[in-house]
Amino acid sequence: MSVFKVFSATQDVNSVFILFLVICVSLLVLVTSFMLYFVFRYSRKRNTSSEDIAGNLFLEITWTVIPTILVLIMFYYGWAGFKSMQGTQKDVMSVKVTGRMWSWLFEYENGIKSDILSLPFGEPVKLTLISEDVIHSFFIPAFRVKMDAVPGMKTRLFFTPKELGNFDAFCAEYCGQGHSSMLAKVRVIKKEEFERWYEAKGTAEKGEEEKKAPDLKGAELVRLKGCIACHSIDGSMKVGPTFKGIFEREITVITSGKEREVIADEEYLRKSILEPASDLVKGYPPIMPPQGSMLSQEELSDIIEYLKKLK
Ligand code: CUA
Repeated sequence: MSVFKVFSATQDVNSVFILFLVICVSLLVLVTSFMLYFVFRYSRKRNTSSEDIAGNLFLEITWTVIPTILVLIMFYYGWAGFKSMQGTQKDVMSVKVTGRMWSWLFEYENGIKSDILSLPFGEPVKLTLISEDVIHSFFIPAFRVKMDAVPGMKTRLFFTPKELGNFDAFCAEYCGQGHSSMLAKVRVIKKEEFERWYEAKGTAEKGEEEKKAPDLKGAELVRLKGCIACHSIDGSMKVGPTFKGIFEREITVITSGKEREVIADEEYLRKSILEPASDLVKGYPPIMPPQGSMLSQEELSDIIEYLKKLK
């Protein structure tokens, strides 16, 4: 196996960090000590006349070769860590991660879709990242892993969770007004527990999805599609207007620069999801991306059914 095999994110990022820290602090101490020494030793008080030194081959070579070696060592470990996060192993669990303004969606090979990333403890995992709009960056500080999600491109992130519990994932690339709310939970559970969840949820998704009432499906979609990153369902303030009691409420909108009053009926809700900028609720920025390409007709109807019931 390649030398990169010894690497596995968290521990290794920590070791590399400590190595870099030691190198940098040593250099700082060395340079500062010399500087202080020279300031003292070669002050004008002690040396009234200056000397003309033409050059010193030994010194020149020393201060070129040593930093070059140090920089190459740092490069090697940085590169090895990067390679390990790119992953070379084939038969590992794979999760598709979709970033969009402003939420994350996790999709498993058996069809499970979730806004929480559940992972088995101690098992290597490969995330495939894509973006539906702009550049995002998926960051799990606890595991020291981060990778950009770039529109039109697939990126990979490979790591092994070695701690049980709940962790935070962030978006680490400024992606617009809702950037700070682009959070997700990462849940690391024991392998057996994970397998039970994986099997049970996978079958449930297939069987029960058909039977569910539209508004319940809508409630799920609003979470999975990330709507609630910007629209609260309890009336609290967020980037966009709250969903609470939205249906048939009288609202002031801006249509082509002019204010007007409308009733948020079914037609209005549908239009606002497909063309958010056309009748913009007064006081809110025109930042919502049109959702037409991200929702099927059925999903759209389910979401509207759900919104109607949110009193
Ligand atoms: Cu997505 Cu910041």
